[in-house]
Amino acid sequence: MVSIKSEREIELMKYAGHINYLVHEEIKKNIKPGVKTEYLDKIAYDFITKHDCVPSQLGYEGYPKSICVSINDEVVHGIPGKRKIKEGDVVSIDLCVGYKGYHTDSARTYIVGFQTREIQDLVKNTEKSLYEGLSKIKAGVKIGDVSNAICEYAHEHGLSVVEELVGHGVGTDIHEDPDVPNFGEKGSGITLKKGMTIAVEPMLNLGSKEVCMLDGDDWTIVTEDSLCSAHFEHTVLVTEDGYEILTGE
Ligand code: MF3
Ligand code: CO
Repeated sequence: MVSIKSEREIELMKYAGHINYLVHEEIKKNIKPGVKTEYLDKIAYDFITKHDCVPSQLGYEGYPKSICVSINDEVVHGIPGKRKIKEGDVVSIDLCVGYKGYHTDSARTYIVGFQTREIQDLVKNTEKSLYEGLSKIKAGVKIGDVSNAICEYAHEHGLSVVEELVGHGVGTDIHEDPDVPNFGEKGSGITLKKGMTIAVEPMLNLGSKEVCMLDGDDWTIVTEDSLCSAHFEHTVLVTEDGYEILTGE
């Protein structure tokens, strides 16, 4: 069932979304060669709890950490640990923040130091594809219009779209109805209504769209061809004539 949030619920999500944004800003300052990914996780945990919020991913379906750190060919759900960030790494940070039972979800991808033009374009165009999708959002529009804008943009720029993982409704749970795929036909799917809150999150690959679970780990999703992947995500509120980003500045 797709829920419509009340004014009060939206206020709680706005606070959680603001903290989500600030956590990303804290992490950004600390993404550099030599830093262990578990240190980024600790920064997030400390910041979130200090602001009366909860790291919603911690314990979610047994997930062991507060954030996901997915590097290079890792698409999503990389688990922070002893691994150190290296020069040239493509690092995606995905995190959820909850306040009084209401959650927000947001992801960003960073290039550490120098990378090829191809990788720079992958990251830049994945972020742009998110905004292409968001630009379609307003009450009365179909989910498929958002999905289609994302995949058209990706394909125009020579990138492939991961299909196994999709965006989603977000609110009292990290993952609520509806699904928000990053591919599909215009006019398909449910109609967006004022007061819905959804997480839009393109995951785009340099090579093939195929992904699989990393061996020996029940979480990390990697590209099948081991080429690089990028991920950007915002939680947004659908309004009468557009949308409001809840996890933005
Ligand atoms: N933040 C992820 C998403 O974008 C959810 C991760 S679930 C976790 O949907 F358990 F891996 F944290
Ligand atoms: Co999400």
